[in-house]
Amino acid sequence: MRSQPIEIKWPNGKTTFACSGEDWLLEAKKADISIPTGCLTGSCGACEIEVNGEVLRACIHSIPRTNGSNLKVDFSYDPYWE
Ligand code: FES
Repeated sequence: MRSQPIEIKWPNGKTTFACSGEDWLLEAKKADISIPTGCLTGSCGACEIEVNGEVLRACIHSIPRTNGSNLKVDFSYDPYWE
């Protein structure tokens, strides 16, 4: 059975629809957002985003199953860089 598209709200106010398992970096581009990257192996943390309040590294995670709920993405905040 094919999963329902998941609504994703981005920090720039745009909304996209994706399926679980799809790539965060490519999905962000659909919303005209370029998530910064560095290592692309999950080591550096340059690509960290918050999804429904949980920090994840976009280069090594895919869009999760949600059982029908939406996802809200924010840019990860690092107080040490302020
Ligand atoms: S680009 Fe380095 S952790 Fe994702």
